[in-house]
Amino acid sequence: MTTRTEDGSAGDVDYGAIGSGYASFRRPDARIARFIAGSLGDCRTVLNVGAGAGSYEAAVPAVTAVEPSESMRAQRPARLARAIDAVAEDLPFPDGAFDGAMTLFSVHQWSDAGAGLREMRRVTRGPVVLLTCDPALVRDFWLYRYAPEVLDTEARRYPPVGRLTAALGGTCTVRSVPIPLGCTDGFNEAYYGRPEMLLDPAARQACSAWSFVDDRVREHFDAALRQDLGSGAWDREFGHLRRQPAYEGALVIVRATP
Ligand SMILES: C[S@@+](CC[C@H](N)C(=O)[O-])C[C@H]1O[C@@H](n2cnc3c(N)ncnc32)[C@H](O)[C@@H]1O
Repeated sequence: MTTRTEDGSAGDVDYGAIGSGYASFRRPDARIARFIAGSLGDCRTVLNVGAGAGSYEAAVPAVTAVEPSESMRAQRPARLARAIDAVAEDLPFPDGAFDGAMTLFSVHQWSDAGAGLREMRRVTRGPVVLLTCDPALVRDFWLYRYAPEVLDTEARRYPPVGRLTAALGGTCTVRSVPIPLGCTDGFNEAYYGRPEMLLDPAARQACSAWSFVDDRVREHFDAALRQDLGSGAWDREFGHLRRQPAYEGALVIVRATP
């Protein structure tokens, strides 16, 4: 059963507590949007589950958004459709209601990812598209050196890709999504070549994994990264990333057709 907080949040994060600045740091990135639009192909009606503040909905013609958290729904720009208050695990739509469906940076938070994905499959005639991270790859990022607890948290939360494809059934493809330098959607790896950004507590708060670790971890991270940026140690080892146009890390797009 899905438990809801006062704000309505239905996953492992209470967006009533940490969600207020989300939309300022998690702005849709045009290059990632092209990947999503390409995966949905010519779908006209698209369900967006865990829609949050509406990132990437502009890339799709007719969106129905589902979002349980009130503070996330409140951050949706007026030009977007109002989001329906519901949860992935129990979608209030008939079988085959949509041409396509997407869930972006959300499935790792659900109380029952398998049930939610089966619901998405049930209500969708065509492709179901997931933007998520491969937990087998999240620790390969330089952040692991400075805040291993944060990426251990991510590795634990993201369902293995094989479990996602098994729940979706049908024919699945999994592709790595290159993250562009200057990516406007501020998840941790988006800052691969801009480490200073992660020194901003508000930028970190827009990545929910940081809310699972305590102050001691955040303080150690801040001090250690500042030290290595000041001494030049970070740049000696990772400085090439400041000029690397894209980074292939843990971000993947999963596309399932019946
Ligand atoms: C990291 S945010 C991503 C929001 C948006 N998709 C984006 O790309 O910016 C995760 C979203 O998933 C939602 N969520 C968590 N558990 C959920 C569930 N069980 N059903 C539907 N949405 C859920 C949260 O409320 C939150 O808005």
